[in-house]
Amino acid sequence: MKKIIFASNNQGKIREVKDMLADPDVEVLSMKEAGIDMDIEENGTTFQQNALIKARAVYNVTHELTIADDSGLEIDWMNGEPGVYSARFMGHDTSYDIKNAAILEKMKNVRGADRSARFVCAMAAILPDGREITTRGTMEGVIADRIEGSNGFGYDPILYLPEFGKTSAQLTEDEKNRISHRGKALRELVRELRLLCV
Ligand code: IMP
Repeated sequence: MKKIIFASNNQGKIREVKDMLADPDVEVLSMKEAGIDMDIEENGTTFQQNALIKARAVYNVTHELTIADDSGLEIDWMNGEPGVYSARFMGHDTSYDIKNAAILEKMKNVRGADRSARFVCAMAAILPDGREITTRGTMEGVIADRIEGSNGFGYDPILYLPEFGKTSAQLTEDEKNRISHRGKALRELVRELRLLCV
């Protein structure tokens, strides 16, 4: 059985990645399940840099196939913020009810297409021999007028997807995995790993 370590302890992401990689020949372990307890400083300025920082830190301990992602919400009207600071925006321990309400308040006078935003995900894989691969996926939408939906996590209740007529938090887990930034980046990563026969 192939073992993949997913360098994250974010329960929402771990669930999504395990669902998407569901394969009897693949065992996906979170950092905790792999017995790795470390704080990794995400001091990159891009999603791709941060994904590589996380994957390299875990790979350096395990030397097993390691994947990591870095993701966040880019709001055009806020010059791409919170971006790579999405988890830290307004403080790590501030609830998403408060963060989401603050963003809606900030944008209360912004209309239509000016509310454009997207989730972005960069994925990085370090192969057992040290080779590195990165991919990127996005999910485009607009900042919703109100908080809606209770599925998912984080900023899902405020990213409205015009194509679907609902927020990301109103998608089922399967629907989200099919169209999400993380789903796209992960499927591309798996495709590239297969091309390398990993
Ligand atoms: P990371 O763990 O440093 O990649 O932080 C990602 C942060 O971006 C999360 O804690 C969320 O705030 C936000 N984020 C990333 N992907 C999603 C998503 O699919 N839904 C909602 N929020 C997300």
